[in-house]
Amino acid sequence: MTKTMLPFIRSDLAQFTAYKPHPSSDTANSVTTQFDRLDTNESPYDLPPELKEKLAWTYQQVIETNRYPDGGHETLKDAIAQYVNESAALSSSLFTAANISVGNGSDEIIRSLLIATCLGGEGSILVANPTFSMYGILAQTLGIPVVAVGRNETNFEIDISAAQSAIEQTQNPPIRVVFVVHPNSPTANSLTAAELTWLRSLPQHILVVIDEAYFEFSQTTLVDELAQHPNWVILRTFSKAFRLASLRVGYCVAHTEAIAILEKVRLPYNLPSFSIAAALVALQNRTLLLESIPQTLSERAKLIEILSQQPELQITPSAANFIYLRLQPNSFSSQDAVLKTFHQKLRTLGTLVRHISGGLRITVGTTEENARTINRVQAVLANLES
Ligand SMILES: Cc1ncc(COP(=O)(O)O)c(C=O)c1O
Repeated sequence: MTKTMLPFIRSDLAQFTAYKPHPSSDTANSVTTQFDRLDTNESPYDLPPELKEKLAWTYQQVIETNRYPDGGHETLKDAIAQYVNESAALSSSLFTAANISVGNGSDEIIRSLLIATCLGGEGSILVANPTFSMYGILAQTLGIPVVAVGRNETNFEIDISAAQSAIEQTQNPPIRVVFVVHPNSPTANSLTAAELTWLRSLPQHILVVIDEAYFEFSQTTLVDELAQHPNWVILRTFSKAFRLASLRVGYCVAHTEAIAILEKVRLPYNLPSFSIAAALVALQNRTLLLESIPQTLSERAKLIEILSQQPELQITPSAANFIYLRLQPNSFSSQDAVLKTFHQKLRTLGTLVRHISGGLRITVGTTEENARTINRVQAVLANLES
């Protein structure tokens, strides 16, 4: 659609293309189950039938579809606060509902944070690429400038000196928010000691968003440092380890004043009643749901070990439920063209993966899916021309 057809639309929006939920798919439709869907870092496991039955019962007996949902989310926030305290072995009263805000996926919270900080020409954001693309996409749709720095090519650590200079030199508007992922997507590395030291040194007028979407897999969290840093916000989601991607529930943990601001910005009934009920059931049954994590971690180790034996591949350690692989430098003449073919051939064989920033990100699936991933990667490599 061109700008002139809808002259009332903001001119900068005309240049953007809509987010493609499954970038490997040809259309905006959902991807059929005939594929091994290893391109969006979901859990490969649906909710266990007994929890689905419980939710079906809740839907039939408790939820009144003609009524608006609980717009204050108090019960859910209480349960989340309890889980957050437990997840970092903190006192059970350290974080309370007043430290939690919930969103329609953490994507919604990212947008609320941008609205609350940078909108109206007040700030720019800083990201270190490659990283989760929604920070930049959401910022751009709000007219917020995105400053990007790079990462170390070997261990994917943020280029800290470039990040620091960007903060010192960016003006009109200055950098107001730094987004980091712990562990990062697509590269799967956790924040290093040097990165942490740098984040701790950032001044109070810069918001630091630490996205722990993959916390349940990494078991490394910074919530225990939140009390010392009023300018930090920690994001988490129910879309990954908690198996609720279809129901869109994310949350953040922060100082009460920051939460009060986020509550002003969010839409009144941002979470459907069913999603609230599902997140509560997931938390109540967290031991059962998180029992699958060791299995995912051992499958990840197996994938890395076997695929690392391919001389053409370079695979870095992962602290999440996905792996990131690149082609060995000099193994092919045109790396990006080869990766594109690689990605397409995997798709033809039935495995969807993400092709991002000169690498492939592959979600750890079920044992069967991972076995197929290994076979298919080996088959594709055997046929690629160098
Ligand atoms: C780092 C990171 N943050 C946030 C999200 C989005 O989570 P949600 O489904 O809660 O919007 C993702 C999803 O892929 C992610 O990788």
